[in-house]
Amino acid sequence: MALRWCTSLPVLLLSYVVCSLAVEIQSFENTNILRTVELGGSQVQITTTFAIKALQPNAKTYTLALDVDEQEKTSWLEVRLKGQQEGLEMAPREDDTGRYVLLDVTLPKALAVNGTANLIVDSIQTGATFPWPEKAAQAADQALKYRSDLFVISPYKTVTQKTKLRSPSPGVISHTTPKNVESFTLGDPVTKSGATITYGPYQNIPASANSKFLDEHQQRVIIHYSYEHPVLEVTKLKRAAEISHWGSNLNIQDEVVLRNAGPTLKGQFSRIDYQHSSYYKKSVSHVIPAVTLHLPAGIRDAYYYDQIGNVSTSRLRTTPSVPKGSQANQYSFLELRPRYPIMGGWNYSFTLGWDAPLADSTSYDSKSGKYIVEVPVMTTIPGAVVKEAEVKIVLPEGATDISYVEPFPSTSWMFTYKTYLDTSGRPTLLFEYQDLTIKHAQSIYVSYKVPFSAHLQKPFAVSAAIFISFMFTLVGRRIDLTLHKQKVQ
Ligand SMILES: *[C@@H]1O[C@H](CO)[C@@H](O)[C@H](O)[C@H]1NC(C)=O
Ligand SMILES: *[C@@H]1O[C@H](CO)[C@@H](O)[C@H](O)[C@H]1NC(C)=O
Ligand SMILES: *[C@@H]1O[C@H](CO)[C@@H](O)[C@H](O)[C@H]1NC(C)=O
Repeated sequence: MALRWCTSLPVLLLSYVVCSLAVEIQSFENTNILRTVELGGSQVQITTTFAIKALQPNAKTYTLALDVDEQEKTSWLEVRLKGQQEGLEMAPREDDTGRYVLLDVTLPKALAVNGTANLIVDSIQTGATFPWPEKAAQAADQALKYRSDLFVISPYKTVTQKTKLRSPSPGVISHTTPKNVESFTLGDPVTKSGATITYGPYQNIPASANSKFLDEHQQRVIIHYSYEHPVLEVTKLKRAAEISHWGSNLNIQDEVVLRNAGPTLKGQFSRIDYQHSSYYKKSVSHVIPAVTLHLPAGIRDAYYYDQIGNVSTSRLRTTPSVPKGSQANQYSFLELRPRYPIMGGWNYSFTLGWDAPLADSTSYDSKSGKYIVEVPVMTTIPGAVVKEAEVKIVLPEGATDISYVEPFPSTSWMFTYKTYLDTSGRPTLLFEYQDLTIKHAQSIYVSYKVPFSAHLQKPFAVSAAIFISFMFTLVGRRIDLTLHKQKVQ
């Protein structure tokens, strides 16, 4: 698993490796750190607020530290100033211990001595929970364990820090009581209140991103909590988006392998028991009977089949297209109901596809003569992490001047692409991702030209009648698309 930075420039990375000695200088102090962990299923959301104070003049680079264990689980991380939406630039730094990583965050404005700021670090962890017990009978309750480090570590001194872990249901079964923390607190090292476990507050913590502190004080804490929703994982998503100017169509097809990552089923699956419990509306948290998806508005000809064939038990409610740029949050809803409930540890593979009017996601920039098409990276399955994704975008034949804008700036080790001609000779872009979370449900923007001459390259394939109607639609399209010109990031 890999940590994905919101903003990381390879050039910056290099320069930070070179000048990585600044951390010993105490340029900041953390006056307060509050970490809030929303315990979940396959995704765990963490918000950490750092109230920082500058101790040196002109302090512009604040360094965050992350235990390697935390880093491996972190699939999304973003740093911003409190009250602002814009993410701050950051660059990872090499370190020699291999026990933590350092991230240099560039503040928008340098702080003077005693100047303060509040930094919010939002992150999403994946693969951070595991079912416990690992196996459960069909009608048993589901419980998960989440493992974390007790202290939020930092290269700077911390006046006070606290970690709150919130369980979605009041059922916290057990939690670790930390040892050897008397030097940081006179009170209880941990308290429980309803569904919330609080570690700390702990006071006067020295700089902790170093082996000495980690050896002496850092420790694991484990929360065991009941979880009443299915733990969903998409082990593999293969999306193919095919752009056709001829049909004025955007076809999207997803091949999905869904997995119930809850406790594996102990014993045989009993359909009778299952029907019995559904009849009495006694839902079992770790069984997945159906999944509701938000598909785009304006789609048509949706299809859904699995290895056996068409699945007729699913329901699709389509919503008409919404004008581009409108704030309306409109979706088509698909209730995907597999042939059988997906029990813990089971996989379910299916294919889902639909057509959408190309105009809904395409703009034409008359200045550059380029089309710009928005292709969503994925359709979110609520709560599910996408462990591996492959997004293929097939452009119209003869497309040239191809460029794209990535939704989340990324380094090459988590993101690869290539352009090639598919069997029909159409330029194709291929994107690969890992551990996509709800934050990654964004779009790739592809722009290209379809020169007229490209269509003339195969004159024999086109009868005169079709050709004339094509020209007609192209003219119509231009007018239409220019009206809804869209801003690309
Ligand atoms: C910073 O704050 C400390 C303690 O409040 C004070 O002693 C010091 O003079 C301040 N420094 C500046 C430059 O304001
Ligand atoms: C599935 O249904 C669609 C439309 O309802 C139909 O065109 C297609 O042939 C069916 N496929 C199979 C394998 O039954
Ligand atoms: C489901 O898939 C995972 C990995 O893709 C595999 O390890 C597991 O054995 C599969 N489970 C079943 C019941 O086939």
